[in-house]
Amino acid sequence: MPKVVIDGIELEVPAGTTILKAAAKVGIDIPAFCYHPYLKPAGICRMCLVEVKGNPRLLPACITEVQDGWEIYTNSDAVKEARKWLLEFLIVNHPLDCPICDQAGDCELQDFVFKYGEPEQRLRDESFKYPTRYLGPLIVHQMSRCILCRRCVRFGEEVMGGADWGAYERGHETVVGPYESEIFADRYTFNMEALCPVGAITTNIYRYKTRIWKLDFTPSVCAHCEVGCWLDLGERDNQLLKVKHTAVYPSPWICDRGGYGFEFVNHSERILVPLKREGNKMKAVSWKEALGLVVGKIKELVAQGGKVAALASPHLTCEDYLLLGRFMKEVVGSDLVDYRLYGGLSHPEKTSLKSLDDVVKGEAFLVVGEDVSLHHPVLALTIGEACSDNGASLYLLVTADSFLCKFAQVNTNPLPGYEERVLEALLAAVEGKDYEALLEGSGVDKEALEKVAQGLKEKKPVLVGGNRLFPKGRELLRKLGEVLGGELLFLDWGSNAKGAFQMGFWSSQGGSVEEILKQCASGEVKALFVSSMDLFRDYPNGALVKEALSNLDFLVVHDMFFTETASYSDCFIPATSFAEDGGTVVNLFWEPQNRKRALRPWGESLPLWKVALHLSKEWGEPLGDFQDVKEVSQLVSQELSKEPSQVHQLSSGGQVPLEGEGLPALFEYPFYKVGVAIDYCNAFVQLEPEPRVTLNAEYAEEVGFKEGEKVAMEV
Ligand code: SF4
Ligand code: SF4
Ligand code: FES
Repeated sequence: MPKVVIDGIELEVPAGTTILKAAAKVGIDIPAFCYHPYLKPAGICRMCLVEVKGNPRLLPACITEVQDGWEIYTNSDAVKEARKWLLEFLIVNHPLDCPICDQAGDCELQDFVFKYGEPEQRLRDESFKYPTRYLGPLIVHQMSRCILCRRCVRFGEEVMGGADWGAYERGHETVVGPYESEIFADRYTFNMEALCPVGAITTNIYRYKTRIWKLDFTPSVCAHCEVGCWLDLGERDNQLLKVKHTAVYPSPWICDRGGYGFEFVNHSERILVPLKREGNKMKAVSWKEALGLVVGKIKELVAQGGKVAALASPHLTCEDYLLLGRFMKEVVGSDLVDYRLYGGLSHPEKTSLKSLDDVVKGEAFLVVGEDVSLHHPVLALTIGEACSDNGASLYLLVTADSFLCKFAQVNTNPLPGYEERVLEALLAAVEGKDYEALLEGSGVDKEALEKVAQGLKEKKPVLVGGNRLFPKGRELLRKLGEVLGGELLFLDWGSNAKGAFQMGFWSSQGGSVEEILKQCASGEVKALFVSSMDLFRDYPNGALVKEALSNLDFLVVHDMFFTETASYSDCFIPATSFAEDGGTVVNLFWEPQNRKRALRPWGESLPLWKVALHLSKEWGEPLGDFQDVKEVSQLVSQELSKEPSQVHQLSSGGQVPLEGEGLPALFEYPFYKVGVAIDYCNAFVQLEPEPRVTLNAEYAEEVGFKEGEKVAMEV
């Protein structure tokens, strides 16, 4: 191990350590622009120059590996002089517009000029000026502020595996940005903005809203998917104005839903008081009246022999599921509760993988039944990283994958509705059985499947089962895992499906959302409570939802917005957003995480656990006397300490909604349309993403549809 002396401090570091990292070990910060701990070293900017005794030139600390016996100076006169010149050159063309720059206060150039530069800009000539590029609702690129560190470009190349974002021209005429796109929104755009050390990439969402030092940041967890990225929620005047990702957990990167998908919290259309139906109108009422109405009506219907059911979105907290579940099961006496409101028929399953760090170490991956970048975006980035950085092999058994396909060895791309059949064929191929008949009509040829089977046998695979896999598909994947000795990773819809399951928010009698809706439609279930999801938007069978809601005697909707589901309600009660209350969520790897409260609840809105508590009190059988969510969290911890039950198939014979074997179409919302209250995120709405329908080619020809054409679908 080389021994070195840095600024008089002796240390020993492993061979191959750069000067910058060695210095960091002894607490010496070397200023750097192009260096970023999660990108490959590039040595572009020269901000990190240091002096090595006996070496005639200053050396870039971020790419120079220490050698035994080196005496390094990070703050000598020569180094100080070099930094001063470099900073002066950088601001030759940089407008001194800090007073109107959203990055001010959080800008590395501002900080370094202040710390290491000269107070004055000596250039009196006209500087280069570039037009500002307004790249759609998410970001603005101001080339005049760019210092050409290329962090954004390298992110696109290294992490995303390619993006329409590059550096063009040469020398001081180099420009950075998209080559073709006039609107830039590429799922992971937030990271480019966050990586930019200056205000060259800023977001429209935060544009001129406030100053960074006026925001209070609270560490919390993203509410959009179960990857559970840690976020810092920036609040001012009880509004959520900015999100940062400083904790680099579970990944250094987040997706645009985590970074930009929070505008719904401050939306002017939020309903902030309880409402009750009076004829065709909804009238504002007090909480007391609303609770009295809900409990009175439910008691009345139960007394008449009617059933009561409750459905809650898989994006809520464990505290919510625990108390609503107890209210329904222990107070009302109904087992009809469920969280699988996107139409899934399976419950979450265990995995031996512990984190994304385990994923990145995977040697081979099989992904079945989900476009992972749509529903688990940072998991998709991590699988991509395993392929591009560590040489992992990736095999896709996914209809119309839109991101991971660029990393895949084999992308089988089965026709809509054939993913499970092809999985069955793959299992047979791996077991050396005959499988050709299973491939018939699937659009996958024998050669491709053979390659997948062979590849999976060569390296220990991670088998990723997406949320489109129904019970039979999951069973097949489990068998494949046994045969290959692979790790299983089943993905679920929502940011806390695993928590809902672990809290027992499901029917132990084997009910499913579909069965509950059918019982509503048939009149068996008389009263339904729906929390935080528009069934018309997200449950795959809109016709069943309509029939179910139309036949109810009493519908209570707890939500932030007056959705289409709410338009059928008899009583509407206002819900808090994820930023207005704390609680526990369980991530993809079954790891409990803490959501924290960053804002006070808006208006009279309440979180679901509090609603359940109030309902139980109104009923006369209080569930407890919890004053704060932390008290409920103690009960949640006890539940989470129990080993999760494994319920493989509760809904045998359940209809697979929308996508079934041989069905001609696969309907999916695009990236900027997936997540919590996403239709109320103004920037995402402006992107006008249309739901995507993938048609079986033969069927498309039969009905005369062409690629890119708009279609209307009815279910
Ligand atoms: S836009 Fe920002 S991140 Fe990209 S090269 Fe310029 S300064 Fe660096
Ligand atoms: S949506 Fe999922 S992947 Fe994206 S930031 Fe949120 S938790 Fe992370
Ligand atoms: S940080 Fe070392 S050259 Fe840019």
